[in-house]
Amino acid sequence: MNLGLDQKVAVVLAASKGLGKASAMALSAEGAKVIIGSRNAAELNEAAEDISSKTGNEVSCFPVDVSNSEQLTSFINGAGSIYGRIDILVNNAGGPPFGKFESFDDTQWQQAYEQNLLSFVRTSRLVLPFMKKAGSGRIINIVSGSVKSVLTNSVLSTAMRMGVVGTAKMLADELGVYGITVNNIAPGLILTDRIRHTLPQDVDPEEAIKEKAKSIPLKRIGKPEEFAALVAFLSSAQAAYISGTTIQVDGGASRAIF
Ligand SMILES: NC(=O)c1ccc[n+]([C@@H]2O[C@H](COP(=O)([O-])OP(=O)(O)OC[C@H]3O[C@@H](n4cnc5c(N)ncnc54)[C@H](OP(=O)(O)O)[C@@H]3O)[C@@H](O)[C@H]2O)c1
Repeated sequence: MNLGLDQKVAVVLAASKGLGKASAMALSAEGAKVIIGSRNAAELNEAAEDISSKTGNEVSCFPVDVSNSEQLTSFINGAGSIYGRIDILVNNAGGPPFGKFESFDDTQWQQAYEQNLLSFVRTSRLVLPFMKKAGSGRIINIVSGSVKSVLTNSVLSTAMRMGVVGTAKMLADELGVYGITVNNIAPGLILTDRIRHTLPQDVDPEEAIKEKAKSIPLKRIGKPEEFAALVAFLSSAQAAYISGTTIQVDGGASRAIF
């Protein structure tokens, strides 16, 4: 299936590794010109070179901390000035710390708010002039399975991502008239560095992964490219009538019916 992305420009945040990088790779493999950002400049450059060498398509990168308003503004404006358009925005950020409700103070709540909710609001606002001008656009937010079924120790993630889901629903309602779709993708367990770091240190990593996979109907942890395939599809021409949704990529892990 040709996804119709070869003339498109995609911005992917938090994309030097993990789900962001896999999403950028999938979009680039479909022919999109991709602009990626994250904080560590060396890792970001390496990711951009890796994607470009594998797909043969142009990949640009600029360091950015998505929780910093000024950096985010110059990142999106800089990205927009490269080709004069932004067709696809993949909102992503590092996950907030895990922990119980009583372990977090106002500072940590504020940081999670800036990084995992307000950054999505800011980027969406900044790309709108480009998308409205084009009469089409795709905003895709990477959230978490915790928006469907709560996960232990993930109060910051759950609270911020519920804000993203609510905001996305409002944006889908307001922006449909401009041909802009807004959707969320909720990963279950997808094997990235973030997940590797949560594995118990005293157990063989392969065994720990097998243990985690036991409760997943497909009996394995997902691969970043399996997640990214949905990013590419939701970015496509074929997905033009899908908006306001939150779709899980979790091997069936969430047992919730709605
Ligand atoms: N993997 C899963 O199974 C899973 C499940 C549920 C939810 N999620 C969520 O999905 C998102 C991505 O997860 P992942 O597994 O891909 O994580 P990851 O492998 O740890 O990668 C995180 C990426 O985000 C960048 N980043 C972190 N903080 C940033 C910031 N403030 N500004 C800009 N870039 C930033 C990192 O680069 P720098 O550090 O250089 O900035 C890196 O490129 C997270 O929010 C995570 O909580 C993941």
